[in-house]
Amino acid sequence: MSNFIFQSWNFKSQISFLVVAALATGFGIVLQSRIGNAAPKPAPEGTDAHAASAATPSNSDSYQAVVTILQQKCFACHSSAAKMGGFVMESYQTLMKGGKHGAEIVPGNSAKSRLVLMVEGTVQPRMPFGGNPLSAAEIATIKRWIDAGAKGPAPGEAATLKPKLNIPDIKPQVPENSPVGSVAFSPDGKLLAVGGYKEVRLMDPVTGKVLKTLTGAAGMVRSVAFSPDGKELVAGGGLCQRWGEIKLWDLQTDKLLQTMQGHHDCIYSVAFSPDGKLLASGSYDKLIKLWNPATGKEVRTLKDHIDAVFAVAFSPDGKWLASGSQDRTVKIWDVASGERLYTLSDPLDGINSIAFSPSGNQIAAAGYDKLIYVWNLTAKGGTLAQSLIADEDSILQIAWSPDGKEIITSSADGSIRIRDAATLNPLGMIGNQSDWVEALSISRDGKWLAAGRYDGTLSIYRMGSLQQVVGPLLAFQPYLPPQRTGRVTTAQATTHPRRTEN
Ligand code: HEC
Repeated sequence: MSNFIFQSWNFKSQISFLVVAALATGFGIVLQSRIGNAAPKPAPEGTDAHAASAATPSNSDSYQAVVTILQQKCFACHSSAAKMGGFVMESYQTLMKGGKHGAEIVPGNSAKSRLVLMVEGTVQPRMPFGGNPLSAAEIATIKRWIDAGAKGPAPGEAATLKPKLNIPDIKPQVPENSPVGSVAFSPDGKLLAVGGYKEVRLMDPVTGKVLKTLTGAAGMVRSVAFSPDGKELVAGGGLCQRWGEIKLWDLQTDKLLQTMQGHHDCIYSVAFSPDGKLLASGSYDKLIKLWNPATGKEVRTLKDHIDAVFAVAFSPDGKWLASGSQDRTVKIWDVASGERLYTLSDPLDGINSIAFSPSGNQIAAAGYDKLIYVWNLTAKGGTLAQSLIADEDSILQIAWSPDGKEIITSSADGSIRIRDAATLNPLGMIGNQSDWVEALSISRDGKWLAAGRYDGTLSIYRMGSLQQVVGPLLAFQPYLPPQRTGRVTTAQATTHPRRTEN
């Protein structure tokens, strides 16, 4: 359930990790897939003929000249899918909007533009990250364009960057930690499953001790779920752009029961139906699939989303399946017939995570627009009950407490927030997370909250007091890059970027 993992590599350690993953999985193709799947962005504002003619730039410092450089040197990591540093260069609009630190370009003032400072190396890490610095001529072109007002595309010029790929050559040098891709408490609360790169660990949530490790997953395990009887564990992931993979283990014998393939891209979310007879998976390939865990066979494909599906969840009675997508919608499906019942289309941006209320008559969703949405559900349709701008940055995960009273979110602003489910009023916050919490789970008795982070650490908090009772601990053994050739790059020479700059 952590779609941010491949969308927002925003740290040095993670980029090296990504490169490790890239070497192992052919990541070059992954980036292409992301770009191929990227939704077209609306035409930029402020690019009317008047604005363009007011200061028509000469050819060498036109938007197009800059775009050409960005396409070749930056786009691989700053597409809407890779989104490193939260910075997307796909259109003039997103380029001007900037990234995690806000605007990167100050029109008329290249000396104050973070993008320039970073390509010059004045602000670390130097861009392109881990690659060769831009030439003086390239930097000069960018500066001239900014100093001339950073104008958008002239009429007739393309506003959207076309994906021209140049995968940077970065060699990992140091052991890296796998991000925590997913966490889930077992139904009896005695185990915590933690998904990471190529493995799932089962931990004792009281002590944090690793009890066993299930290996053999193809790539990052982005979603884990226990069967309702707690006897089996399912892990969703796969190799992006190649295939989605679901693995099902028997937890008594640790035997691998099934490997289910059918998706054409990695899986971001898996869920067990409440009766344990069905599995649902949501994938970057825009599809949802239902599977029979007993046979490993695909039961049906649910097709209606027009972009990546990041979240799936069964209603508590098992009649409905809900799905949340990058296409800005939540859809409700009839599980028995596979028919889409209706679409909830209030969100303004992609949905990362969804959660049914324990009663099953409401669903909450959140994602890139920073809002929490709560809808009342009936068989005929859904009505928006609440929406609130809840966080200062994209919401990564949302969960509903088992007693129905609280909604918990984690956000890219580094916080976990607890809210009253009826009013969305804040009840508590755990701030200063060492990294993005992309994995959240609440134990069924409502007492414990597990949070897994992008930097590979894990903590368990007591729900009422929000006290940390376990962790932060490193969930996985540091991963040793298989290749140690090549010269030392800036990728491992700099310190943690967020720490040095904030
Ligand atoms: C190999 C991947 C990669 C490439 C190529 C790359 N970047 Fe980045 N970029 C990153 C990462 C990772 C970050 C986040 C660094 C951090 O932790 O702050 C980032 C952050 C940034 C930021 C700051 C975003 C913010 O608000 O924090 C800017 C500006 C930026 N990049 C510009 C560029 C430019 C311009 C290029 C091309 C010349 C480029 N990048 C190429 C990976 C890359």
